[in-house]
Amino acid sequence: MSDAASIVDLDETDADGRRQAAEVLYEAFRALGNRTWPSVAAAEKEVSDCLQPPRLCRALVLNGRVVAWGGLRPMYGTVTWELHPLVVHPDAQGRGLGGRLLTDLEHRARQRGATGILLGSDDQTGSTSLSAVDFSTTPVGDAIAVIASIPGRPPHPWRFYASHGYRIVGVIPDANGPGEPDILMWKGLGGG
Ligand SMILES: CC(C)(COP(=O)(O)OP(=O)(O)OC[C@H]1O[C@@H](n2cnc3c(N)ncnc32)[C@H](O)[C@@H]1OP(=O)(O)O)[C@@H](O)C(=O)NCCC(=O)NCCS
Repeated sequence: MSDAASIVDLDETDADGRRQAAEVLYEAFRALGNRTWPSVAAAEKEVSDCLQPPRLCRALVLNGRVVAWGGLRPMYGTVTWELHPLVVHPDAQGRGLGGRLLTDLEHRARQRGATGILLGSDDQTGSTSLSAVDFSTTPVGDAIAVIASIPGRPPHPWRFYASHGYRIVGVIPDANGPGEPDILMWKGLGGG
């Protein structure tokens, strides 16, 4: 990774930074075929939402541009925080930047007194075996135990999070529609 990379608070008053963060969010999900943020303007609204206190927003700046960012928000009081979102621009993925940002966010969460981080990672592209599970007949634990990637589909980030110590703790079946579950992952921060 370039020495020019730094991680900073995303600043509500920094219009350029907010715009760049919105572009990263838009491009990262567009590359996955995910239209949750169908325009940069929609992504800008999300960035602004993530900047509302007490939420935290950290941006990874490389050569003067935001290329990745992540947000944290209290979920169960300030004990468990939700990671939402975590995005790296497609041109900058696979170079360790997402992992570096995640470590920084965990550090910030600990500073705020968090003992755990939860995230929901949707599978809206049939990228994991969970998208084919009928949860009305299959116990969630059984399905989680044998989760597998579907070859040829856009990669789902559960392996990325697992490599950083996150465990699958649940699934919301059909969260986004039939066969489109939300995969819940959690990491305890105690003692870290
Ligand atoms: C997921 C994401 C944040 C990871 O950031 P990154 O900078 O690409 O990841 P890193 O370079 O730090 O780590 C890559 C490692 O994770 C693994 N990995 C697993 N799934 C992955 C995925 N979907 N994307 C990227 N890496 C993935 C890689 O194989 C690699 O492992 P290795 O180092 O052993 O080879 C980033 O790819 C991204 O923004 N993806 C699109 C948006 C997204 O899915 N966000 C998460 C929503 S919950």
